Amino acid sequence: MSGCADGVSKESRQIKRMFASIAHRYDLLNRLLSFSLDRRWRRLVVQRLLPSLPSKAVVLDLCTGTGDLALELSHKARVIGCDFCHPMLIVGKEKIKNSELAARVRFVEGDALQLPFPPRSFDAVTIAFGLRNLEDYTSGLREMFRVLRPGGMLVILEFSQPQIPVFKQFYLFYLTWILPKVGQCLSGKVGPYAYLPQSVKEFPDSETLERLIQQIGFTGGEYSLLTGGIVSLHLAQKPAIIPVK
Ligand SMILES: C[S@@+](CC[C@H](N)C(=O)[O-])C[C@H]1O[C@@H](n2cnc3c(N)ncnc32)[C@H](O)[C@@H]1O
Repeated sequence: MSGCADGVSKESRQIKRMFASIAHRYDLLNRLLSFSLDRRWRRLVVQRLLPSLPSKAVVLDLCTGTGDLALELSHKARVIGCDFCHPMLIVGKEKIKNSELAARVRFVEGDALQLPFPPRSFDAVTIAFGLRNLEDYTSGLREMFRVLRPGGMLVILEFSQPQIPVFKQFYLFYLTWILPKVGQCLSGKVGPYAYLPQSVKEFPDSETLERLIQQIGFTGGEYSLLTGGIVSLHLAQKPAIIPVK
């Protein structure tokens, strides 16, 4: 991480700027480029998390962006959606304006690597398509562990790479050649949709991520591969009793 005076590194600033530049088109592009599968993936997060949530649960949706997962979760819990990109949060706020959900979702501007919340604040932490964008996955996961109450749940939804031979080739072709072009046409920006395939390819595979989650101290880790392995959904728990080291 290349540090600087305000504690936010150059890489993080670039990521923030990049999302700011596409905030107004982000939802539309998500729907188009995923053929609306993104909605189904987020609904699955809620379904998987629900049985573990106490009544009156408070959930932190990290890297919430324009708040799609936060909104999905808010039917079942009170949610804080946290992101460091102001324009993405503004789009999210617009979506709940004048809706009854406004009372159940609060958006907070903050850095996932230095969360502005005390330890043991949340019953669950979710992060959808956000971990890959953190410049230090381990620090991000440590922060998630810190703000979870003992026994709290972590759910990570993230891109993965399919392993089924022909499907894998087809997907990589789409990811490398089609998606950046469509993204560029509709957002008017070259960078963000060229960054997406690169970041997906560089992100650890599901097994490696699972090991990392365990190393941080989470237990009961499990993951499922969705849509032929394009996406993986990881579920883990902060132990109810944390061993003293
Ligand atoms: C691909 S978007 C995902 C948004 C949303 N979760 C979704 O499912 O559509 C990634 C988001 O992560 C945010 N992000 C990246 N690094 C971050 C950090 N260090 N702290 C907070 N937010 C961050 C970006 O601003 C962006 O809104």
